Order: sequence, then structure tokens, then C-alpha cells
Amino acid sequence: MQEVLFNYEGKRFVVVGASSGIGRQIALELVRAGATVLCLARRTELIEQIDVKDCCGKIIPAFSDVTKCSSGEWDEILKKFVGDYGKINGAVYTAGVAGLTSIRAWDEELSQRIMNTSYWGMLRFLQSATKKRFSEDGSSFVVFSSVAAYANYLGLLVYSSTKSAVQTAVKNIAKEISARRNRINSISPGWLTDTEMTDGKSDQFSNREILASKICLGEGTVDKISGMTLFLLSNRADWITGTDVIVDGGMLLRGGVFE
Ligand SMILES: NC(=O)c1ccc[n+]([C@@H]2O[C@H](COP(=O)([O-])OP(=O)(O)OC[C@H]3O[C@@H](n4cnc5c(N)ncnc54)[C@H](OP(=O)(O)O)[C@@H]3O)[C@@H](O)[C@H]2O)c1
Repeated sequence: MQEVLFNYEGKRFVVVGASSGIGRQIALELVRAGATVLCLARRTELIEQIDVKDCCGKIIPAFSDVTKCSSGEWDEILKKFVGDYGKINGAVYTAGVAGLTSIRAWDEELSQRIMNTSYWGMLRFLQSATKKRFSEDGSSFVVFSSVAAYANYLGLLVYSSTKSAVQTAVKNIAKEISARRNRINSISPGWLTDTEMTDGKSDQFSNREILASKICLGEGTVDKISGMTLFLLSNRADWITGTDVIVDGGMLLRGGVFE
């Protein structure tokens, strides 16, 4: 039984990266709270499988490859949704890919893909979503950084740098969009065990007991992240902007699970 319930009846949101992991969970909880949600990813068939009882028609799936979508194309996607349902009250951008690359074991294609998905794709989306014609005054935007922005893990050179860039962008954009009382914040999750991003990425972490023992509050799952996201989207967070919220079960307190 959840102690905090959110009411998003009559509200409209966009979730980019809704086919899996954190984004999927956020879309699900927003719809359960009454919102209509434009859900984007490449694998729209996975979005169509999201099963929300009694919420028929509130998940609107659409295709987007964030590495290719220009801000003009985002305008077209949002124009259609806003025309059909009304201006958005906020958006969540979770699209991201992880991968190992270091200065010695350099992988140019992977490096570009990591940065393009989490950072450039996010900026192109926000250019469009923060426009007055698409978002209500007082809209809230949440994007995704990582604990990797705080700790230096071998092989995560580009991923960590990208996630640091996300946090810097948030501070910058927060100032730009504050005139309409719009807000933007990032969340830095710790290592979660139930998303595609981490699935099978490490032998060490395939053992949930070992993993849990390295994190003060034990194993992390997507529902540990969705609550903070829904809070930041809500009017209870209307004086919070330009900041990063670490949700990691105390992982960084122990120096991170990779140590
Ligand atoms: N899981 C963790 O432990 C963890 C920890 C720290 C930070 N994070 C961050 O949290 C965010 C969400 O991670 P997650 O674990 O939920 O990942 P996930 O389960 O792998 O989901 C990633 C989502 O991003 C979408 N995506 C990837 N590339 C895309 C593209 N080119 N165009 C459109 N959509 C794209 C995927 O959809 P399609 O493949 O269908 O397009 C999917 O919906 C990421 O930014 C990640 O860096 C995760």
C-alpha cells in the first residue's frame, strides 16, 4: 500500500523511452494516476503491451528514434498530440544506452551513440517540448543522469561524461525556462536490477545477493525511481528546479558497487 498517491487526472505528459525499464514504469504510474501519456520509443510494440486496467486510451504510443529525430520532427510529433489531447504538463526523458569505452579501449561508434541518445537527443526533444505552444505554464521536465556522473568507474568514460553533461544542461535550461514557471530536474539512479540496460551486463551483478550487500538499502528496482519522478512532476515540487536528485539506496555512500 503506497502512502503517497498522485492525482494527475486530466493532465498530459510525454515519456521518451517508455518501452522498457524506468520509462515504462513511469508511464504506467502516470496513467494509473489519471494522466494521458504520449509514450515514445523505437519498439512501439512493447509500449502497446503495457497493460493498464481501466485506463484504456490513456497510453498513446508513437515511434521515435531520438538519435535521428530533429527538433523540427519533434515539433510535428508534439503538434499532433497537443492537437488531439491538449498542451502537455510535463515530460520525462529516459532514453539512454550504456556501454564500456575508455580512452585506451576507444569505440567511436558506441561513444557517439551514448552521447547522442542521452544528451543530444534530450536537447533536441526539450527544444520542442518547452515551447509555449506545446507546454502549459508551470510544466515540469525530468531527465536522467546517473550515479556514474559522481563516481569514476573504469570503462564508463563516455557514459559518465554524458551524464555529467546532462546535469550541467539541466542547470542551464532551468534558468531559460523559469519565466513561465517551468522547471527541469534530473534524477541519478543507482544500479537497478530490473531493466534492460543492466541485464546481463556484469557477472558480479547477476548475483542479486552480492549486489544488494554492496548497497546500504539493498537491491534497486524501477519502482524506487518512479516515485521521485512523479513527485518532481507534481505541484508539490513547484520550487525545485535545476537540481539533481540521487536515488541510489546509499550506493555512493559505499563508494559505488564497482569498487
Ligand atoms: N538501469 C540503471 O541501473 C540505471 C542507472 C543509472 C542511470 N540510468 C539511466 O536511466 C535511464 C533509463 O534507463 P533504463 O535502465 O530504464 O534503460 P532501459 O531499460 O534500457 O530503457 C531504455 C529506454 O530508452 C529507449 N531508447 C534507447 N535508445 C533509443 C533511441 N535511439 N530512440 C528512442 N528511444 C531509445 C529504449 O527504447 P527502444 O529501445 O524501444 O527505442 C528504452 O525504452 C537511462 O538514461 C539510463 O542511463 C539507469
